[in-house]
Amino acid sequence: MTEPRIRVVATDGDARRETFAEDVRRGLTSTPKTLPCVYFYDAKGSQLFEAICELPEYYLTRAEAEILAASASDIVSEFDGPVTLVELGSGSATKTRHVIEAILARQDTLHYRPIDISRAALDDSAGALSVDFPRLTIDGIEGEYAEGIRRLRGEAEKARLILFLGSNIGNMSPDEAVVFLSAIRANVSVRDAMLIGMDLRKDADVLERAYDDSQGITAAFNMNVLERVNRELRGDFELGAFRHAARYDDVEGRVEMHLVSREAQTARVAVLGLEVEFAEGETIHTENSYKYATDQIDDIARRAGWEVRRRWLDGRQQFSVNLFAPVTTPGR
Ligand code: TRP
Repeated sequence: MTEPRIRVVATDGDARRETFAEDVRRGLTSTPKTLPCVYFYDAKGSQLFEAICELPEYYLTRAEAEILAASASDIVSEFDGPVTLVELGSGSATKTRHVIEAILARQDTLHYRPIDISRAALDDSAGALSVDFPRLTIDGIEGEYAEGIRRLRGEAEKARLILFLGSNIGNMSPDEAVVFLSAIRANVSVRDAMLIGMDLRKDADVLERAYDDSQGITAAFNMNVLERVNRELRGDFELGAFRHAARYDDVEGRVEMHLVSREAQTARVAVLGLEVEFAEGETIHTENSYKYATDQIDDIARRAGWEVRRRWLDGRQQFSVNLFAPVTTPGR
């Protein structure tokens, strides 16, 4: 009998449901109000995000795919021997295909270890990849980044390439990104490397349109987090009483996403026994997407114990893909 080529396991689902309730309580009772962006990505949210990736305004996915299509062999040639591929926040893993192809051109088999918060996204992507790449074995984990970092601990047989694509790192502040990358650095060896997709600073108009498209798909994506609160925590948010807003803050270098209350209103969340009051125009801050200059990327890497060994840009220089290599400092 042969080993199954796909396996997807979940981290503790009950604990995650409790965390959702706690996070919603904390976010909606703080000033200003917030909701953590990890909760965008249930099955419906992940699907809406896939639709965002195809929007004419959302240049990020196309730019990153262009880079990976052109440079995947170049990227994997930075490794001497065979590798294992790890991916944090793999989603549909469409862009990952370029990397998988490049690796399989150099080695017979490949072990791919994606981690994602959406079980549906993992099941779908693993199914499709295993059909197209018979020499791939897949070990999926349904969970958050922290779980993925924990699983990097310990000796690995092969060098590991850790993908962190799609400007997902941009959803952390620069300081949070340093903490996150330091935690990964602590669990990897000097022959491992990370490939990180980071969006570049650019014109405010282009950025704001990427996060507030004319078809309203980004608005639906943002609004989905309120639908989740309604469904999973018995909330009574009236979706029509909120609107989506995206604003670029050039000083912070980030696009801020908000849900704006159209009127003074009170919403209830039954599971939490919570009443939430909104003034007209008051917002729930749901996400930031940081945009970087290349020297800021170098700086973040250095502060977290990494160096940018190589960097690739798309033809229009809108987006960057960065190969982070661990730095070995004596005594560290
Ligand atoms: N990682 C994506 C980004 O920052 C997530 C994202 C895209 C997003 N569009 C959004 C998050 C709209 C909230 C609202 O580009």
